[in-house]
Amino acid sequence: MNSDSKNGAEFAVDLGVPLCGLRLKNPVIAASGTFGFGREYAEYTDLNALGGVSVKGLTLLPRRGNRPPRIAETSYGVLNSVGLQNPGAEAFVRDELPFLRGFPGLVVIANAAGGTIEEYTELVRLLSDAGVDAIELNVSCPNVKEGGMSFGASERALSEVVSAVRPVCKKPLIVKLTPNVTDIRALARAAEDAGADALSLINTLLGMKIDIESRRPVLRNNTGGLSGPAVMPVAVRMTWEAASSVKIPVIGMGGIASGDDAIEFMLAGACAVMVGTANFVGPDVCSRVVSGIEAYCKRFSHSSPSEFVGGLIPW
Ligand SMILES: Cc1cc2nc3c(=O)[nH]c(=O)nc-3n(C[C@H](O)[C@H](O)[C@H](O)COP(=O)(O)O)c2cc1C
Repeated sequence: MNSDSKNGAEFAVDLGVPLCGLRLKNPVIAASGTFGFGREYAEYTDLNALGGVSVKGLTLLPRRGNRPPRIAETSYGVLNSVGLQNPGAEAFVRDELPFLRGFPGLVVIANAAGGTIEEYTELVRLLSDAGVDAIELNVSCPNVKEGGMSFGASERALSEVVSAVRPVCKKPLIVKLTPNVTDIRALARAAEDAGADALSLINTLLGMKIDIESRRPVLRNNTGGLSGPAVMPVAVRMTWEAASSVKIPVIGMGGIASGDDAIEFMLAGACAVMVGTANFVGPDVCSRVVSGIEAYCKRFSHSSPSEFVGGLIPW
């Protein structure tokens, strides 16, 4: 609880927000794949300042990811084709989770990706039993051949995978949606109907960059996922459409680099936000986003960010 003097009176803001039975101490979560397992950033920023961390996408077995080059800068954005490089879920639980558990009040979200329904189910069972706070089901990775986005881009496939993991998931189940679809509302409803406790969006937008001298794609994978400020208006629109279509909470992301950016998503209906690519530019960006949200609360006399969530006044 932080207090300030407003119009002569003591004005208190509690930045805490509820998220399907959990309490985030503020609405800002580091986005999966851009914050490692937290440890990588601990030297540069205070992890206690964050509401939560969604760790790098985990698979049942370790993965080396795609061949490089797999990162390319674009105008106001980044294209990546990392392809879920990670040490595997068991190594995460053994080597990384204890470090994150050392930050009381930090909500730890395990981002889980599979190639088949059976893999998703086994992985979610393992992670939810291991003591993470929530699972973020990654059905939206554009950089893997099997699974990933192919599960998130069809209502039927999305519904099947969410229904399959629901019974084994003992923690809140957040389903991360892909923006590479025509109607995000239909996918949001399909995930909710199949048992999701919350939604997060957007994952990256499928893109491509070409080296005109070599006439080759810049990424070895040919295509990759676009993130960063370039995608923000698309992400805000999709967050608004998804949040208006479901009753479960929505976490918004895509290009957030400031408190004002985060507030756009929250006015559009997101109860919390994730910050991704901006961590590569400034590793302490999350705490600046938190301060920006607090300043906005004070400016509009909100004692909690929840008071302005969904406060958009559409024309
Ligand atoms: C290098 C990189 C790796 C990523 N890896 C993952 C991942 O493992 N799992 C996932 O769900 N999203 C992953 N993402 C997507 C981000 O979590 C986020 O959804 C997306 O980048 C949009 O947010 P941003 O513009 O703030 O980065 C990755 C993004 C980047 C840039």
